[in-house]
Amino acid sequence: MIPRDFIDQLLSRVDIVDVIDRRVPLKKAGQNYQACCPFHSEKSPSFTVSPTKQFYHCFGCGAHGSAIGFLMEYGGLPFIDAVKSLADEVGLKVPEDASFQHKPKTGPDLTETMLKAAVFYKEQLKSSPRAIEYLKKRGLTGQIAARFGLGYAPAQSTALKQIFDNYDAPELAAAGLVIDGDRGRYDRFRDRIMFPIRNTKGQVIAFGGRILDQGEPKYLNSPETPIFHKGSETYGLFEGRQSIREAGMALVVEGYMDVVALSQFDINYAVATLGTATTPIHARTLLRQTDKLYYCFDGDNAGRKAAWRALENTLEALTDGKEVAFLFLPEGEDPDTWVRANGKEAFENFLRREAVPLSAFLVREISRDINLATEEGKARMLKEATPLLQKIAAPLFSALIQRQLGETIGMRPNEVNALINPAVKRKWQKNESRPTSPGRTQPSICRVMARALMLRPELAKQVDPRQLPSGDANAQLLGQLSGWLGHLPNMPQPAGILEAARGMEFEQAVAALLSEVIDLSESWEPEAEFNGGLDQLNAAWKRRRHEELSRVPLDQLNPDEREELQSLLRN
Ligand code: CTP
Ligand code: MN
Repeated sequence: MIPRDFIDQLLSRVDIVDVIDRRVPLKKAGQNYQACCPFHSEKSPSFTVSPTKQFYHCFGCGAHGSAIGFLMEYGGLPFIDAVKSLADEVGLKVPEDASFQHKPKTGPDLTETMLKAAVFYKEQLKSSPRAIEYLKKRGLTGQIAARFGLGYAPAQSTALKQIFDNYDAPELAAAGLVIDGDRGRYDRFRDRIMFPIRNTKGQVIAFGGRILDQGEPKYLNSPETPIFHKGSETYGLFEGRQSIREAGMALVVEGYMDVVALSQFDINYAVATLGTATTPIHARTLLRQTDKLYYCFDGDNAGRKAAWRALENTLEALTDGKEVAFLFLPEGEDPDTWVRANGKEAFENFLRREAVPLSAFLVREISRDINLATEEGKARMLKEATPLLQKIAAPLFSALIQRQLGETIGMRPNEVNALINPAVKRKWQKNESRPTSPGRTQPSICRVMARALMLRPELAKQVDPRQLPSGDANAQLLGQLSGWLGHLPNMPQPAGILEAARGMEFEQAVAALLSEVIDLSESWEPEAEFNGGLDQLNAAWKRRRHEELSRVPLDQLNPDEREELQSLLRN
């Protein structure tokens, strides 16, 4: 664990403009620097770097972070390596762990525990002829097993005792490696092929375990833990990231084995969801890596249903310029069996020829079981399409779908548009006024104050949590942030706040706030804005309190409350 003090010191030494400029040449644009974003393809630059806030943000794809975050994303480096490489550049030495007792607030570092287990399982594979035989039978070479760090969990019920001196340690349960049963603790994974699931930083955050022969359940996965959230992780993304970039596309499949088998056939741009439906987070993460996304499903009914859910969850992550398509395999086949039977070239041809574009799939599915020869049928189809079109944030894409809808039901695009437009248009307008540049819409007081805290975190102590309005998301965020910042031993700079927030529940919120302040002019005065907000909150609170207290009969107020009411009446 690298101490936060050191991270702050490091961030204050490096210049993010310099760090990025050496890799992605930047041009000065106003107070900031810009370039075409290295994380998605674009023609006009929306990748913005702030020299004063030491923070980057892409207004196109949402990529953001500090100098450390940039090296992680751009170089595909794990956190530690990014820190080391930056420290090297400015001649700082990363302190050794032992000299610090600094523990993260989230408890012991579960990723270290997971890594230890992954190394163990990998070792165990070497000494299990049965497991090796199984992988061979499935056509996997040692090279591919190594690429994915495949392992084997022995059959003994407490095999992990061999590597964890304290088998009773709470972090083993927190990491999901053991189960505490009636008769004591035992290993969750026994006699299974182990697929380590890595996050994009390369840390092992979970495992999927496959039974060797017949038996139930076929796959056993890690439970949700503080470091593992199924709905936001994809299997194989860390391993495949480079290939995805090179191929310009990603292929989402259903199983671990599919990813591994495709890789065995030198198709390295496949990833899998983890036994869940595709979520909007999956879609967003993948569309940030690439412009072309293919989903691969079984050709049967269940596959079509899964594809439809993937479609619904992808719509909101779609932006213009992205291509999404669906590939349906013949019934009873999965990518593993298909590629094995037909090979790489046939698979890629199949993908190129047979994949159904998202727009066509959408139109086809909503017109299924509808009689388009009747006016009622046409109306019903438009009715079903409307909520879907409302989800799409990409105007060109939405227009394209409207045209296809029109063709299907024999209406001109503008007729379709007129029918579904009232609702759709509202959505677009809402999207257009998204606060990419703050100030265009009127942000709430609490939002403004939270932004100010990004630049002047020491002001956090002045927030009185009692005075925050309830039921307001920004007020809640302000309360959280001020509580957190108010207790930090020393105050970080903006990029440092993001690093300090890494892994905390409001990490995303902090990133969003920083992206809002990145474009604020240098004359925007955080302290004045903050104090102005504070006054307003205080006044509103006094009004609420006054109302509250005056509703209670005087003789039922305690002396303190009476005094408070009097002072409220005085001013
Ligand atoms: N899965 C799961 N739990 C199960 C079965 C499946 O979590 N009991 C998830 C796993 O992530 C698995 C995916 O669903 O990778 C696909 O399952 P399935 O199609 O049944 O397995 P295959 O990928 O075909 O695996 P194999 O070829 O080894 O049978
Ligand atoms: Mn399979």
